[in-house]
Amino acid sequence: MPSPSWTAIHAQPVPELKTIFDNDPDRLAKHSLSVGPIRFDWSKTHLNADLLSAFQQLAVESDFAGKRDALFAGAKVNNTEGRAAEHPAERGEGNPESVAAAKALHARMRALIDAIEADALGPVRHIIHVGIGGSALGPNLIVDALGGADNRYDVAIVSNVDGTALEAALDRFDPTATILAVASKTFTTTETMLNAASTINWMVEAGIDDPYGRVIALTADPEKALEWGVDETRVLPFNENVGGRYSLWSSIGFPAALALGWDAFESLLEGAAVMDRHFRLAEPEANAPLLAAFADLYYARVIQCQTRALFAYDERLKLLPSYLQQLEMESNGKSVTSEGQPVDGPTAPITWGGVGTDAQHAVFQLLHQGTHTVPVEFIASIEPGHTLDPAHHRTLLVNCFAQGAALMRGKDNADDPARAYPGNRPSTTILLEDVTPQSLGALIAFYEHRTFANAALMGINPFDQFGVELGKQIAKSIEQDGPTGFDPSTMALIDLALG
Ligand code: F6P
Repeated sequence: MPSPSWTAIHAQPVPELKTIFDNDPDRLAKHSLSVGPIRFDWSKTHLNADLLSAFQQLAVESDFAGKRDALFAGAKVNNTEGRAAEHPAERGEGNPESVAAAKALHARMRALIDAIEADALGPVRHIIHVGIGGSALGPNLIVDALGGADNRYDVAIVSNVDGTALEAALDRFDPTATILAVASKTFTTTETMLNAASTINWMVEAGIDDPYGRVIALTADPEKALEWGVDETRVLPFNENVGGRYSLWSSIGFPAALALGWDAFESLLEGAAVMDRHFRLAEPEANAPLLAAFADLYYARVIQCQTRALFAYDERLKLLPSYLQQLEMESNGKSVTSEGQPVDGPTAPITWGGVGTDAQHAVFQLLHQGTHTVPVEFIASIEPGHTLDPAHHRTLLVNCFAQGAALMRGKDNADDPARAYPGNRPSTTILLEDVTPQSLGALIAFYEHRTFANAALMGINPFDQFGVELGKQIAKSIEQDGPTGFDPSTMALIDLALG
């Protein structure tokens, strides 16, 4: 049975996007806002005053404010696993004990960076970071977006168990100048531990006497790291209440802090803290993550959009879509509420995307003329990431803004339907002043809180991920017990490929 707010939301007529500005001269001002260095513009979505007030009612009905306060207080918001979700504490926003523990961890990270810079581990030029999922995507995004050719060290972030990935890194690195960061919250993940072991073998084969002396462990289970052979001076344990996909702020961010320098890492944390305070304190009508969640839910549940696309019109942010795929889909890809009841509507849409302008020449056809309505998010930076002719950046931004206008406006063609554009297709635009540690920290924290706000409004727990377990268990049982008891298709595949 839909709640009263959902009934009210569904009862609202769907506004016509093509004319939505005509009826409200103040629409842009009402549907855009800035938080620090980021400007959010929802004016090209179907949200209007009536819908916003119905969604605000939903926020009241679902106790959004109470859930948000519980998150920042360090209460056990992850009810299915009986634990808190304390990533904001890594940025200084949360329960004081956890904030103090995060500060102590950051001080240890910084001291270890100083030691590495002073050659305490021997000369270091290369870092192999092995980790997967949240233990790789965040550091990879940060290093790629903010470092590039200027990185102080050559960093390879290797996640896939496919040895092709690790071999490519090993081939280009000198083992005598490489340190290994093993990033795993649980320190048990098959892919990571196998990649770590192979890197150790590579060092041994290169004649390095004490390969474990070059290992740094980034984990919430320090005992396991010690058992594996890492010296405790190089184990950087983080709070187990920080979830994997929210962990780049903890020691999981170590390779980024090393490659970019401590000041940059600190700015990243500060940027995130600015967004934390905004999310915690801003009123619902001016709260960026909450407003974004209203739009998300409108498109997922009312317009029944099954996907949401995100295009970074900035090469520096090319890894953002894959980072957000884990954040959004692992958090909110759920079918039951926090109380274990079936949900009363679709949950997370499929997040996909790419970079502009490349994507315009590949997938935008479907966005403009296909049968799916896909809410599109454009992300761009006013400042360019390069020093070439300003024409590059101008062309990039012109294209970005043109796409949003085209999706909304469409174009009639009575003579030739193949050349007609229906329009009325929603988009949001996020404009950064520049891609800096501060703005990227704030942007990522915005997405974290938006994901949380979606979950709070839907009544689901965004902090567990039991859906990833079954496949892992079956893989383990094939390894341990051999291929027995499976369907003919699975048996034949194992037989053909593995013997
Ligand atoms: O299998 C999913 C997952 O648990 C993610 O949530 C997590 O980010 C990733 O695996 C890696 O886990 P760990 O950091 O424990 O190695």
